Amino acid sequence: MLSKLIAGTMKWGRWGAKCDTQQYLSHIKTCLDAGITSFDHADIYGDYTTEAEFGEALKLQHSLRGQMQLITKCGIARPCTNRPQFAIKHYNTSREYIIAAAEQSLMNLCTDHIDILLIHRPDPLMNPDEMAEAFTYLQQTGKVLHFGVSNFTTSQTELLRSRFPIMANQIEVSVLKREPFLNGQLDQCIVQKLIPMAWSPLGGGNIFSSEDEAAKRVIAVAEILSQEYATQPDLVLLAWLLQHPSGILPVLGTSRAERLRKAPEALNIQLTRQQWFMLWRAAAGVEVP
Ligand SMILES: NC(=O)c1ccc[n+]([C@@H]2O[C@H](COP(=O)([O-])OP(=O)(O)OC[C@H]3O[C@@H](n4cnc5c(N)ncnc54)[C@H](OP(=O)(O)O)[C@@H]3O)[C@@H](O)[C@H]2O)c1
Repeated sequence: MLSKLIAGTMKWGRWGAKCDTQQYLSHIKTCLDAGITSFDHADIYGDYTTEAEFGEALKLQHSLRGQMQLITKCGIARPCTNRPQFAIKHYNTSREYIIAAAEQSLMNLCTDHIDILLIHRPDPLMNPDEMAEAFTYLQQTGKVLHFGVSNFTTSQTELLRSRFPIMANQIEVSVLKREPFLNGQLDQCIVQKLIPMAWSPLGGGNIFSSEDEAAKRVIAVAEILSQEYATQPDLVLLAWLLQHPSGILPVLGTSRAERLRKAPEALNIQLTRQQWFMLWRAAAGVEVP
């Protein structure tokens, strides 16, 4: 249902490239042409402006909606000029809040349904029964097809799953952020057939410019491997994630057309097991035990 690469929109608008409506439309088309049909949003992106900017672009060519899957998130209440009622950053996963946020996202995105709604961050006050009530309402009214979580530990995911079926956990995973390989989050995805989505699959881009020793070692190895596969180091790093048996879907952070166009090349790179561990070792700085 989702594409193997997901286009993250966090930096398309006010928090990054500040695209105008035509540029949004152009990025959407570039993604669709490249087979990247799933788009990742959150209500808070661009201080609550990016969804609506994307929706304006979609209005220009609404037939494109049928070719894409829209993922969005709610639950973070972020104080900013668009939300003067929030005195302090907090989480809200109450029934009323989730329903109101999803309905606002539907309006912003100019769509009649959201494909997947994720709870953006685990809320210490979350009540799974109340969340299930909100999900049930949104599903029965056709407003949201599926639900998932983001940044949830395995037990937090279990908590919600005990009350309502969920289909994804969007977590930070990259060669520089390897905890999910070891802390059970990716194991849980395999066992429970959840889709793992990787945010910051390239470490938020820092990997390319960082003075961090681990990042430098990783780039050095990725460069050698990229020559062997006649490709680019960033695509090797995406291939590294794609190769995990849990079926990780990287959420791409770029807002550059040429990078979006090239990204699917990563799907054709099959690293050997030893090459995969060369990148792990470069990041960890030591051999595996
Ligand atoms: N669930 C959550 O809590 C959460 C948190 C953060 C993000 N997300 C989602 O994940 C998506 C991706 O996150 P991210 O932006 O951190 O991902 P990322 O892909 O790791 O980083 C994107 C950054 O890397 C740069 N970049 C990409 N390829 C590069 C290359 N070859 N050389 C140099 N720089 C390169 C991009 O710059 P250019 O634009 O110039 O290419 C961009 O600034 C977001 O859009 C959002 O949808 C979710």
